[in-house]
Amino acid sequence: MSNIQNGAFPRIITLVGGVLGSTTCGALLYAWSVFIRPLHDEFGWNRADIALAFAIACLIFGLMTFPAGRLSDRFGPRIVVLIGALFLGAGFISSGFIYQKWQLYLSYGVIAGFGGGLVYLPPVATAPKWWPGRGALATGFSVVGLGLGSFIMAPLATYIIQDPSMGWRDVFLYVGIAMLVMAVVAAFCLKNPPEGWKPEGGDPKTVDSGADKRYRDYNFEEACRTPQFWMLYGAYFCGAFAGLLVIGHIAGFGIDSGLSPMEAAAAASWLAIMNAASRILIGQVADKVGTRLSFIGVFSLQAVAMVLLYPSGGISWALWAVSALIGWNYGSMFTLFPAKCLQYYGPTSQGSNYGLLFTAWGFAGFAGPYVGGWLKDSTSSYLAPFVVAAILVAIAVAVLAIIRAPKKMEC
Ligand code: 2OP
Repeated sequence: MSNIQNGAFPRIITLVGGVLGSTTCGALLYAWSVFIRPLHDEFGWNRADIALAFAIACLIFGLMTFPAGRLSDRFGPRIVVLIGALFLGAGFISSGFIYQKWQLYLSYGVIAGFGGGLVYLPPVATAPKWWPGRGALATGFSVVGLGLGSFIMAPLATYIIQDPSMGWRDVFLYVGIAMLVMAVVAAFCLKNPPEGWKPEGGDPKTVDSGADKRYRDYNFEEACRTPQFWMLYGAYFCGAFAGLLVIGHIAGFGIDSGLSPMEAAAAASWLAIMNAASRILIGQVADKVGTRLSFIGVFSLQAVAMVLLYPSGGISWALWAVSALIGWNYGSMFTLFPAKCLQYYGPTSQGSNYGLLFTAWGFAGFAGPYVGGWLKDSTSSYLAPFVVAAILVAIAVAVLAIIRAPKKMEC
């Protein structure tokens, strides 16, 4: 039976769904900065007002992943992603028709952010179920589009905005339609494996030998009661806060340190490229050396990068190198945290478990760039925000070094 199921639904399709869905989320979130200038020019809104739309989108996106994961565990990923696609498309497209700030907050922040959260989480919870033994790599495919989406979207949007016959409203309209189509296709690429499914031919590392039937996966309520869950939550918040703080300010920091706008933009591009690349590559590393070692390596490197960031400010090649390192470590988190959650609590409730864990990113996305800007404004320097980021990452390293797997759940 398993071979028939496997033949009827090639599991590689789930990875295609993950790449497509996550690319729409990348276009939603990580290319936001391209809209700042045109919105400011047309309406005269200040940076903080415009940044609030992004902060709202991050918060709603992050908070929606929890119900998205629960619903995906219960009803399967397809319907959840389909509903998300409709909201994501509607919110993004309608952002092209706004005239007031509150309309932007509602369309981009609330509606598109809501849809994005529903599109993002189910592939992360689904793909590893089809790829036992290669769960981290499968997760990497489900999040790689966050990097790819911003990489494609930023130049595309800039091109459309600069075309004299078009403008920022066309970006929301045309990219919104493309996002809707891609997310709908992603939905149809996703489904959970049938109960008891095993890969064709078996996977020597993971096929259930039937030897140990005493243990079962954690359900959501049980996972929440383990201290390890909240340790992971704290580490996720710290890592995401630091990463998003830098992402929100890297170009401004480069310019303030004396680099040209092009040189500063190149730092942001290096960060984006490595943010995409690491999601797949670290999955391969983690499947070989384990998530613990990968986590400690990545977070230690991130702490070092945060310390080096401020001194590298006025030297273009140094800033590019440090930005690339920060992008690598930041992107790795989105493969390693779901893989760790899967390893600790099992696949049965991965949607709910990781959905709740990911809300840490939503809070970090709301607070990180804002606190960074506030510290910069209050001290007239980027030193304080980067020191805070380094301290938070160092705390995460300590947490990830001492955390141990929870006891297996007895039946
Ligand atoms: C990610 O980059 C959405 O920030 C989350 O995967």
